[in-house]
Amino acid sequence: MGYKEIYARYRQQIMAGALKPGDKVPAIRVLAEELKVARKTVEAAYAVLIGEGYLVSQGAKGTRVNPDLVISRREPAEEPAPLADSSLNQLTGLRDNPGEMRLGIPSLDEFPLKKWLLISGKVARSLRPEEMTNQPVTGYAPLREAIAGYLNISRGLDCQPEQVFITSGYRANLRLILQVLAQPSDKVIFEDPGYFFGQKLLKRIAPNLHYAPVDRQGINVDYLLRYHADARFLITTPTHHSPLAVTLSLPRKHQLLGWAQENQSWIIEDDYDGEFHYTKKVIPALKSLDHDDRVIYIGTFSKTVMPALRIGYIVMPKETVSRFKELGEITETGLSLLPQKILAQFLSEGHFYKHIKKMRTLYQQRRRLMLDALNRLFPETFSYELSDGGMHIVAFLRRGTQDVALAELWQAQQLQVFSLSAWYTQTQKRYGLIIGYTNIRSEQQAMTLLQRVQQPTLALLQQAN
Ligand SMILES: Cc1ncc(COP(=O)(O)O)c(C=O)c1O
Repeated sequence: MGYKEIYARYRQQIMAGALKPGDKVPAIRVLAEELKVARKTVEAAYAVLIGEGYLVSQGAKGTRVNPDLVISRREPAEEPAPLADSSLNQLTGLRDNPGEMRLGIPSLDEFPLKKWLLISGKVARSLRPEEMTNQPVTGYAPLREAIAGYLNISRGLDCQPEQVFITSGYRANLRLILQVLAQPSDKVIFEDPGYFFGQKLLKRIAPNLHYAPVDRQGINVDYLLRYHADARFLITTPTHHSPLAVTLSLPRKHQLLGWAQENQSWIIEDDYDGEFHYTKKVIPALKSLDHDDRVIYIGTFSKTVMPALRIGYIVMPKETVSRFKELGEITETGLSLLPQKILAQFLSEGHFYKHIKKMRTLYQQRRRLMLDALNRLFPETFSYELSDGGMHIVAFLRRGTQDVALAELWQAQQLQVFSLSAWYTQTQKRYGLIIGYTNIRSEQQAMTLLQRVQQPTLALLQQAN
């Protein structure tokens, strides 16, 4: 590498803003060693950069990007072409923007952060050299044990730690399961309406994708048996359907399990918020009724701990464990050790259980606050079909079909709600807003937020109806 190349790299980094005025650059000796070039090559490059005013030498204080440098911005590079699906663009932006009323975010103000930080510190300090190599691809063994223990006690499963595969969450779960068990021609069924991001992912990775409608008792199993009895996979949210929050009725649960057994199909049970059931007893998972091991249970810590943790898991049916491990060794890398260790300790010391117990009561209260505020400000606009749990409200429009425009209006005011109809694909749509309430701390706060959109909402609906 010659001095011109080093010069060009630095100039490019400075012009692009990656190196900012005042940033320190490496000493000549250090950079020469790093790039395996002679010191005089770096010296020459720095001399030109200094000569042209990009860098300044400050003697013993080293060399920096010229603090007085003014970079005239050129036109920004052309934006990449948007994805064909504009609703996806809109919602991806929405994911990046924390905003208010976002679906599925736990109550961040009530997270036991001090405990978490204490454990994090202890775990970081106790890292042993032998732990610094790659860990098993299926996950950190004590975490797999803690998850199996939790699921067996709280969700009614009967699984061994060896069946738990730790992943980075829902999408990784689906990708891995289909990669291990599916042929491209296999028929995959998803709920309609169904989890927006699941639907988008499956459209890309499951070529033979179909849908089954959902009504007040959950997924319509008669429809499934009538039109798609030959399906190899069904992905479903039986405890609280996403987004309608209804619970799959017990007769339908048995019907589904019977179908899977008879047909040797797989049911992927997405139990994303099964912990949060308020008024009745927590509902055991569908997996707890599965005596033939046809249910692949998937879970996440995004709702119970925090989304940024990015830890989820698959409970692999026993007969599939070796296939998951074999392919996993080829396609997966496993997750970072530290977060897994912290989480394992958070579970094994009992903080997790305590936290979700507290959240159950809190979410019930916060849902009430949000509903009261909605009823006061929009008495004629929405109707509700409340279930016993979940982390969001579906506010159905009493009249009209303007939910996409309405969601956009709310989003423009930083209220990050979803339009219900966007979660449907082909069956008869319903219209409304999907509203998160877990971070609403008082009715006053809910009122203040909703007042931002009260008048424009009424105006928009009046115009449309
Ligand atoms: C239906 C459903 N499944 C799964 C998840 C969990 O996703 P992840 O594990 O990627 O955070 C969510 C989160 O919003 C969800 O709504």
